[in-house]
Amino acid sequence: MDLILSTLISILVIIPLYYILKSHHNKQRIAKYIDKLPGPKAMPLFGNVLQLKVARNKLFKVIDQRTKRYAPLFRSWVGPVPFVHILRPEHAEIIMSSSKHIEKSLTYKFLYPWLGTGLLTSSGSKWHSHRKMITPTFHFKILDIFFEVMQEKVDILINRLKNKCEKPAFDVYPYITLCALDIICETAMGVPIDAQKDLESEYVKAIYEISELTIQRTIRPWMWPVGIFKWTEMGKKYFKSLRILHGFSRKVIRERKEFRRNPATILDTEKEDDIGTKKRLAFLDLLLQASAEGTHLTDEEIREEVDTFMFEGHDTTTASICWVLYLLGSHPEHQDKVVEELESIYGGENRAVTLRDLTEMKYLERVIKEALRLFPSVPFIGRTLNEDVVIENYKVPKGTHLNIQLYHIHRCADQFPNPEKFNPDNFLAENVAKRHPYAYVPFSAGPRNCIGQKFALMEEKTMLSQILRYYKIEAKEKFEQMNLMNELVLRPENGIILTISERKK
Ligand code: HEM
Repeated sequence: MDLILSTLISILVIIPLYYILKSHHNKQRIAKYIDKLPGPKAMPLFGNVLQLKVARNKLFKVIDQRTKRYAPLFRSWVGPVPFVHILRPEHAEIIMSSSKHIEKSLTYKFLYPWLGTGLLTSSGSKWHSHRKMITPTFHFKILDIFFEVMQEKVDILINRLKNKCEKPAFDVYPYITLCALDIICETAMGVPIDAQKDLESEYVKAIYEISELTIQRTIRPWMWPVGIFKWTEMGKKYFKSLRILHGFSRKVIRERKEFRRNPATILDTEKEDDIGTKKRLAFLDLLLQASAEGTHLTDEEIREEVDTFMFEGHDTTTASICWVLYLLGSHPEHQDKVVEELESIYGGENRAVTLRDLTEMKYLERVIKEALRLFPSVPFIGRTLNEDVVIENYKVPKGTHLNIQLYHIHRCADQFPNPEKFNPDNFLAENVAKRHPYAYVPFSAGPRNCIGQKFALMEEKTMLSQILRYYKIEAKEKFEQMNLMNELVLRPENGIILTISERKK
């Protein structure tokens, strides 16, 4: 009886008490070190969140001002949760180059309902094994197959833009978004959604809605608990979109598996010929194949990875392409240089773009890189420390969340003289060689870098070169008139307002 009683007491009292004390001790320990760092004055319980209680479109400015004031390193408290803000290349290197600090921060949890623990959000052994398995699917020979899809979808975009020629200024952002969605849907899942033709697509609307609602939820702490969120109007819309998105990817996976039961469709990715001859291959096929041959993935794990590609693979490239259009539309002298380069590649011929052409677009590539420096699509990335680190002589304890602010790292004046100026020559080889290797990291760096960067560059060059080949663009807003939104991606609040006209041959 005594034994039963003492076991019960341990289970009900001692063990929970042990964990409560341990967690309290951890928090005290973290606070002791964190509060040595500079940072805005924190209120008990709320920390610094109330200072962020501004309109959504003002948030970026508040963070920017705070950063300028406390650089090169500072802390903030989001309620009881400590964040340390990383703003310098040498500090970013400590974290990004390490294979220990690969765990994502709290912020990514809001993507869980949609993406589960796919490559972007997972950590530990799941991330390791999936990364190893998925890396070969981004082999350049496979990407070459996706080029065909990109060409086809970009042709549709070029036709759609014709209607906007010599017309009043318009927002180009939705045009680029739909084209990028068409590309990623067909390359990730192998099925067309025809976003550029079917403007009422339920799937496309759900993607728009879920991205928007994820942000809304992040900045409303009372909606963090799912039990509350799901009863709110916002939560109801969110879960409706989620059902549409998951329903679509599950259906595609089911159908693809069924289709693959026919052995003639199985690919041998080792053989060049096979890679070159199979048409409309999708990442999904490669995942199914890798799963059949090596580490088995459940249907739900495959769904998480496909949804991750859908998310990471369209918003980021859209933002980046739009910023290039804005910068070239505001700097005609650089637009002329890009066009000169295109003329030297095509020599006035009206032929399709080829992969070889893309490799010759050196100036355009420098423009894209410079645009990603000034406006990195992913403005900050988050990590949770798995062990204590020392940064700038401060001990930053295990358990702290880090905000690695790519936007601010890219503006360090000792690395980029005149950092606010659009200068594609920043990416001449001799200038790159002078910089810290982590001074420019739009795709992150180290073990958790972006797996899709070659895909992204291929898509950007294809889309931008075709737009600029056929149309002259003019941006209608000055930078001072624009409002940056620090959301899932860094985008201008009111899109990119341009006029376009047909280029005279
Ligand atoms: C201009 C375009 C893009 C930019 C700027 C970009 C940037 C980034 C960054 C900064 C990360 C690290 C995120 C973090 O640590 O939290 C990342 C990760 C990732 N990106 Fe991209 N990305 C782009 C395009 C793409 C595309 C086209 C795909 C897929 C087709 C893709 C798939 C991924 C995936 C799966 C990860 C997670 C990798 C891992 O943790 O192992 N990205 N990207």
